[in-house]
Amino acid sequence: MSYPYQIKSLETYQQEYRKSTDNPEAFWEQIGQHFEWKKPFEKTLEWDFLEGKTEWYLGGQLNITENALDRHVATQPDAIALVWEPNHPDAATRSFTYRELQHRVMQLGHVLKKKGIGKGDRVCIYMGMVPELAIAVLACARIGAVHSVIFGGFSAQSIADRIQDAQASAVITCDGAARGAKDIPLKSVVDEALLQCPSVHSVIVLAHTQSPCNMFAGRDFWWANEIAEIEKAGSPFLPAEAMDSEDPLFILYTSGSTGKPKGVVHSTAGYMVWAAYTFVNVFQYQPGQIHFCTADIGWITGHSYIVYGPLLAGGTSLMFEGIPTYPDAGRFWEIVEKHRVNILYTAPTAIRSLMGFGTEPIEGKDLSSLRVLGSVGEPINEEAWHWYDEHIGKRNSPIVDTWWQTETGGILISNLAGVTPSKPAFATLPLPGVQPVLVDEHGHEIEGNGVSGNLCIRFPWPGIIRTTYGDHERCKSTYFSVYPNLYFTGDGCLRDENGNYRITGRVDDVLNVSGHRIGTAEVENAINAHTGVVESAVVGFPHEVKGQGIYAYVIYQGQHHDDELTKRDILATVSKVIGPIAKPDKIQFVSGLPKTRSGKIMRRILRKIADGELENLGDTTTLLDPLVVDEIKDGRISG
Ligand code: PRX
Repeated sequence: MSYPYQIKSLETYQQEYRKSTDNPEAFWEQIGQHFEWKKPFEKTLEWDFLEGKTEWYLGGQLNITENALDRHVATQPDAIALVWEPNHPDAATRSFTYRELQHRVMQLGHVLKKKGIGKGDRVCIYMGMVPELAIAVLACARIGAVHSVIFGGFSAQSIADRIQDAQASAVITCDGAARGAKDIPLKSVVDEALLQCPSVHSVIVLAHTQSPCNMFAGRDFWWANEIAEIEKAGSPFLPAEAMDSEDPLFILYTSGSTGKPKGVVHSTAGYMVWAAYTFVNVFQYQPGQIHFCTADIGWITGHSYIVYGPLLAGGTSLMFEGIPTYPDAGRFWEIVEKHRVNILYTAPTAIRSLMGFGTEPIEGKDLSSLRVLGSVGEPINEEAWHWYDEHIGKRNSPIVDTWWQTETGGILISNLAGVTPSKPAFATLPLPGVQPVLVDEHGHEIEGNGVSGNLCIRFPWPGIIRTTYGDHERCKSTYFSVYPNLYFTGDGCLRDENGNYRITGRVDDVLNVSGHRIGTAEVENAINAHTGVVESAVVGFPHEVKGQGIYAYVIYQGQHHDDELTKRDILATVSKVIGPIAKPDKIQFVSGLPKTRSGKIMRRILRKIADGELENLGDTTTLLDPLVVDEIKDGRISG
């Protein structure tokens, strides 16, 4: 496998970048030629940002699994595609060659087809980090079904909301998931969700943890039994469904500033090109290397850089079931040593949490196989950057700080490992095809260097969001109407004297907790669902490990005997409505919230108080009840 579009020098980067902006269509047309098409595309790009519309590789037909599997089965069938490291270090590692992976994907594809699932149908996948999760994703793609993976930490209600929104007809799940010392019962959560989801007619259940698991006749089917049936029939080859370039490949739900998560839709050809192009260039992947992305496939990072990017490149992707601190804080380093990992891609939260254990867990671990380190999901602070560089990379492995979003499909701004310079805490330069613009709050472009503003992108790239499922207006208004003719990222950004970009965090009501995106409105809705709660306001505050923590101000008028018990109950409600990841770190009971006369909550004030900035709260005279601010300041929860 060679990568004709891999950029190998700073000069080439500059040339390619220029080509990609001078004539984007010619640039991407040429890159598109390096993939397998069932029918060649006729036109590279059509777009209209005012309508929030982008189409790439029009007229073409393809299947992403032919590019991610069949192509490599033809040339390197025995190369390892996927390596799986189980939760418990003593349990057996599993690995799959390209031939085996293709075989298993085709088997499950047959199972899905037998259940009446076909092109365009939506399939919800709710599993732990087992190889079968990657197989399920690829089996959907094989038959043209649209996968919607839901992170295993979401609650039954969250699953139900997503299934209903997508009108999914099937669910693929596990009996349970193993994460650290915990055994998480996934199937029973699915059962609870499905009470509200009449669109689902089939549930395929993988037995993994052997935890007790009810199975409803006619609806629930064991994965292994279904595969056995296919085997009995000789496991015939399953031709890949021909998909139009713009046919949707997947939906992935993500939080925004409203209370309801939106289904980000990615299409087949553009996403494929972007996942492969960014993987090969940012990480400078070389054939035979072991790529370890520690994300969960429930998030976009896992989609693009555990499953699709590495497999499209014919690479070896390492998938880890567990958590960085189980059985101890040396687990990542043990995995690096055991599997001779070459590329490690993780989140600043993980780095900060491991920093807290000191260097002892690293001692004696052979990390000499590492060539490239990556960071994703949130701003990386300089201290964490240097620790990663010094203790993990031994100052010998470039760090790529990759900025992107669920909506962008793949990395947009990042240095290219060892090819373009890095700068601590800076994502640095845009990839070819990406044209960043900074604007002020009125949408005026801020030109020149040494400036900051809101980050927008001026021109489409192949991996851009196509729509929000079932509601294109929402896509238009969220991303394309805030600043006409620009894609708005929701992030604040600084451009230094040399044109390097540093992402400073969200400028909308979206929090980034441990690299997970959570809308403040979503958390407020969940808190307000608790009996006795009259109103709540949620803001983020700086958190040493998580990046941001969740601070909730709650007006509570229920039976109020014990603050701590009530707080605990509110947390239980939030867990039930969204999932444990959305639980506030701090809850402060208040008698009122700082509101303007028009009833708008002044979040700026609440954010400052949560930060401990009790002076200089700005003008509070326009508040309906300025006294409430003093009460909130007095009751602030510190520490
Ligand atoms: O605020 C940015 C932050 O994560 C947001 C996107 O979250 P999500 O869609 O869940 O995707 C996360 C994985 C790509 C962005 O709007 N973010 C992501 N990467 C970085 C980052 N902030 C700073 N630096 C990054 N490298």
